[in-house]
Amino acid sequence: MASEKYQKIAIVTGANGGVGFGICQRLLEAEGEALTLVMACRNPARANRAKELLLSQFPFAHIDVELVDVGCAKSVLSFSSAIKNKYPHINYLFCNAGILSSCGLNWKAIFVGFVTDPVGLFERSDATIQTVGEINEDGMGKVFAANVFGHYTMMRELEGLLSYTGDGRVIWTSSITAHSRSFDINDWQGILCKEPYESSKWACDLISIASSERFQKEETRIASFTTSPGIVASEIGELPVWVVKARILVHYIMRLCGVASQNITAYNGAIADVYAAFEPLSRLSYFNRYNSLSTRWGKAYVGAQAIPEYDRVTAEKLIEKCELAYQAFKKNFDPAATAPAN
Ligand SMILES: NC(=O)c1ccc[n+]([C@@H]2O[C@H](COP(=O)([O-])OP(=O)(O)OC[C@H]3O[C@@H](n4cnc5c(N)ncnc54)[C@H](OP(=O)(O)O)[C@@H]3O)[C@@H](O)[C@H]2O)c1
Repeated sequence: MASEKYQKIAIVTGANGGVGFGICQRLLEAEGEALTLVMACRNPARANRAKELLLSQFPFAHIDVELVDVGCAKSVLSFSSAIKNKYPHINYLFCNAGILSSCGLNWKAIFVGFVTDPVGLFERSDATIQTVGEINEDGMGKVFAANVFGHYTMMRELEGLLSYTGDGRVIWTSSITAHSRSFDINDWQGILCKEPYESSKWACDLISIASSERFQKEETRIASFTTSPGIVASEIGELPVWVVKARILVHYIMRLCGVASQNITAYNGAIADVYAAFEPLSRLSYFNRYNSLSTRWGKAYVGAQAIPEYDRVTAEKLIEKCELAYQAFKKNFDPAATAPAN
């Protein structure tokens, strides 16, 4: 396909809802017709509904839907192969799709948190009892596979297209809840830990920084950044509808009281992702996490925060483990035996 057909190309995983949809809106707002937006989604009906909604807001938009299950290595390899066949370059890869696997509410933590640390309660996932020990069909920690490894594989597969633009960006949607204390390199897939979600988000931060360091060393013209959408009232965590609705009210009250993490809408939550994609490299640091924040009146802005306790040795060990797993899946992958993603 002639490359003059395309100006900028962005891939957004998990584009059909929540923060991913907000990223799409902001990208189309900023880039208009110059952008080809690739919505990388797992469910065709949900993806096409979201595409129609975007087209109703941005009738000029060039939008493609490409199917991928980021929690399945074969699907990611097949998706990447389709992308490489179809597009001449990629400007932005938004590693946004994510899951938080829950099996109920932790009423004790809710009560204690409400009394002792109400802001923390609504910023972290303490209220949720996370499912521990979940393994996917590839034999990998389920949350890690979807939140981290699928995106690692995608990034590795698409590095050629990303570097072709001269300023390719990989943006990881991490979280303010990501913290080194949730992560253990001996349980890198978060299978045994009580907080596989937080473990996976810290892994995203480690991979983002370590990858940027590698890109610099190899003089590959790609940079990787990590962001946090703050608190967005999305469908993540599979909470009962009444809990989500009750939380929204509390989020608004907290925001009015000046708690800046309470972005509530996906559009506000997506501001940091798009900032990390568009800002000149000279004004960004890959050691920062870029946080979406909102004023008490709901105006979104971006705050940079140095990632606390970045540990290069652990990051390199994690990359080594991911790379070995990626190479093993790639070796056994036969593109001819896999149906195209769409
Ligand atoms: N909401 C928050 O407050 C918050 C806070 C911190 C970080 N985040 C991060 O923000 C990102 C987006 O989350 P969200 O809040 O927008 O949640 P969401 O509304 O549940 O959206 C998640 C998106 O990811 C997609 N997805 C999940 N598993 C997938 C898979 N295996 N393959 C392909 N797509 C998959 C979902 O697709 P389906 O519609 O098909 O399920 C959906 O489009 C996540 O990385 C999350 O960790 C969110």
